[in-house]
Amino acid sequence: MKNFDIALIPGDGIGPEVVTEGVKVLKAIEKMDTKLSFSFTEFPWGCEHYLKTGKMMDDDGINKLRHFDAIYLGAVGYPGVPDHISLWELLLRIRKEFDQYVNLRPVTLLNQSLTPLKSKTEEDIDFLVIRENSEGEYAGAGDRLFKGQPEEVVLQTGVFSRKGTERIIRYAYEEARKSNRTLTSISKGNALNYSMVFWDEVIEEVGKEYPDVETYSYLVDAASLYLVSDPERFEVVVTSNLFGDIITDLGAGITGGLGLATGANVNPEKQYPSMFEPVHGSAPDIAGKGIANPIAAIWSVSQMLDFFGEERWGKAVLTTIQDMVKETEMLTPDLGGNAATGDVGDSFIEKLKITADTIKVK
Ligand SMILES: NC(=O)c1ccc[n+]([C@@H]2O[C@H](COP(=O)([O-])OP(=O)(O)OC[C@H]3O[C@@H](n4cnc5c(N)ncnc54)[C@H](O)[C@@H]3O)[C@@H](O)[C@H]2O)c1
Repeated sequence: MKNFDIALIPGDGIGPEVVTEGVKVLKAIEKMDTKLSFSFTEFPWGCEHYLKTGKMMDDDGINKLRHFDAIYLGAVGYPGVPDHISLWELLLRIRKEFDQYVNLRPVTLLNQSLTPLKSKTEEDIDFLVIRENSEGEYAGAGDRLFKGQPEEVVLQTGVFSRKGTERIIRYAYEEARKSNRTLTSISKGNALNYSMVFWDEVIEEVGKEYPDVETYSYLVDAASLYLVSDPERFEVVVTSNLFGDIITDLGAGITGGLGLATGANVNPEKQYPSMFEPVHGSAPDIAGKGIANPIAAIWSVSQMLDFFGEERWGKAVLTTIQDMVKETEMLTPDLGGNAATGDVGDSFIEKLKITADTIKVK
């Protein structure tokens, strides 16, 4: 019997609504597979906690999380708390302190009807973005001088260390090699004449170790054009923290929206827990209405299961997502349906049971 200890941070807005559905899926798997069990510990951290205590998480929060096998997070951020506080004092703090330097964001079209791109099919849009997740433009380095005065100056410094750049690029090359896919690096060496020139040099250096991997390199502006006009060019993509953040929202835009976009924050060495979360935020505009799409959060569960080495279950969850989005019977309003969050979750579990039997996962 394998047991995995999972820390739950449902967070704000629709975060708790979608995490509830993901946990339902894990509990259903536990019932179907007698060799697997999951224990959950919930932490009430987020903006409500901040408004009560002045803190997004407990002072010793990082220590409290350290011994879990994984963290499952919903979303943070809510009107009334500045976004830079909610992001930096919880989400980015966890990503940094646990050295979750790999952010894995699949961009996969599950149903042709969901893309606004004319004549693009499921075969055309299927790539994995590997985003640097620990430094770069989100290093938090900078200063603000002479606040409010005419001579005010604000500095936001990108930090690209050799260690940080090499390890993410090597991780991406390994992934491309393992899955026999091309690797595309997205940077901006023409304008960012220190950081991105360095990035491009490291791509070339590390690339020498992988002569078998076909490599492409685009400027982020050209890449944005191709993501819309020729998404089939992309298979595995490696890019910096900021560019990865932006192009994966574009990726969500061409595959059905944020309700389907997932992201894993991984510490590959497993020195610290990794964190699994949907890409979307707390969606205050629909929070409490029971219509949030839980599929992105359920997709995070699939990534978590892969990370635990339970790939057969990870695949069963993903196959069930694919079937559900293809069938279109039980979808939330963002995907053109009229189902409620909880009904999508319940229906998902019924379908997962059938998938698990069909692909003989147990
Ligand atoms: N990882 C995170 O926790 C994270 C990510 C992005 C934004 N945020 C925070 O969330 C708050 C709201 O930000 P925002 O509005 O820019 O982004 P958002 O992702 O919360 O919402 C953008 C739009 O997408 C819709 N949407 C998002 N997720 C959906 C889902 N699962 N089902 C159906 N529709 C969905 C929303 O209704 C909204 O119209 C802000 O405080 C922001 O800082 C947090």
